Amino acid sequence: MANGILKGKRGIISGALNEMSIAWKVAELAHAEGASFVLTNAPVAMRMGEINKLSEATGAAIIPADATNDDDLEKLFAEAQSKLGGPMDFVLHSIGMSPNVRKGRPYDDLNYEWYKQTLDVSAMSLHRMLQAAHKGNALAEGASVVALSYIAAQRVFPNYGDMADAKALLESIARSWGYRLGKDKNVRVNTVSQSPTMTTAGSGVKGFDGFFGFAQEMSPLGNAPAEDCARFCLALFSDYTKFVTMQNLYHDGGFSSTGVTPEIMARFTSAE
Ligand SMILES: NC(=O)c1ccc[n+]([C@@H]2O[C@H](COP(=O)([O-])OP(=O)(O)OC[C@H]3O[C@@H](n4cnc5c(N)ncnc54)[C@H](O)[C@@H]3O)[C@@H](O)[C@H]2O)c1
Repeated sequence: MANGILKGKRGIISGALNEMSIAWKVAELAHAEGASFVLTNAPVAMRMGEINKLSEATGAAIIPADATNDDDLEKLFAEAQSKLGGPMDFVLHSIGMSPNVRKGRPYDDLNYEWYKQTLDVSAMSLHRMLQAAHKGNALAEGASVVALSYIAAQRVFPNYGDMADAKALLESIARSWGYRLGKDKNVRVNTVSQSPTMTTAGSGVKGFDGFFGFAQEMSPLGNAPAEDCARFCLALFSDYTKFVTMQNLYHDGGFSSTGVTPEIMARFTSAE
């Protein structure tokens, strides 16, 4: 179904860890749509080696960068520009990790050093990326930046722990940069709030199966698959969405607007 909507565009795609990653699908589809881009991930993620397969399949170079390290990010934007031959038309931030969630520390017993890491890796990293891009003059006129979020930024999902706070911060950073970069170069910055998705980061959340199943039943269209999330990201990178900015856009099959469904009600209704 490729239509060449990213033909001639240059970009950076972060966060492709393995075939399940949302960023992996974005890279595959962006390649099919005619984009040229570089892949980036934390140096530690390179050890798994999976990303090399994606690099071969898409012809994209890999530039390792820890998204919490400003020197790495400066180099990322400088190298991406020299490899691709100009400034970026799109950037995907697909990065999230909470040591507290990973290690089972609940919200009322957080390790604060880990909490800082959660916020740095999952939210401040967007600020760091955009600051590096801005200072390095690495974004093209009318470029588009997308970061992936989750509805726990607006509503409580107890097992999501401190990641909820990180997503709220991420969405705020997207608006704050969106204002500045919009004025500066007509750059758009949005967050996409995605359905629960079976990936390494997703399944790290305690009780993820229940989470996934509940959202599936609560969404008239069902949970949005990773591939469709990727398609939505591509639409936001394309010239078809030039005036969409500073938004948190739900890509969730209708979950965020559904109060209850008859199927779920039936479980609480006594038979007449
Ligand atoms: N899976 C879900 O249910 C779901 C739902 C909504 C939003 N999201 C968001 O989508 C994004 C992508 O996650 P995913 O589900 O594809 O899982 P994933 O585990 O495949 O991707 C997360 C990525 O973050 C990278 N990362 C972690 N620390 C980093 C660092 N310091 N520097 C650079 N990269 C680092 C990891 O290496 C990995 O590639 C995340 O922001 C996640 O919160 C996921």
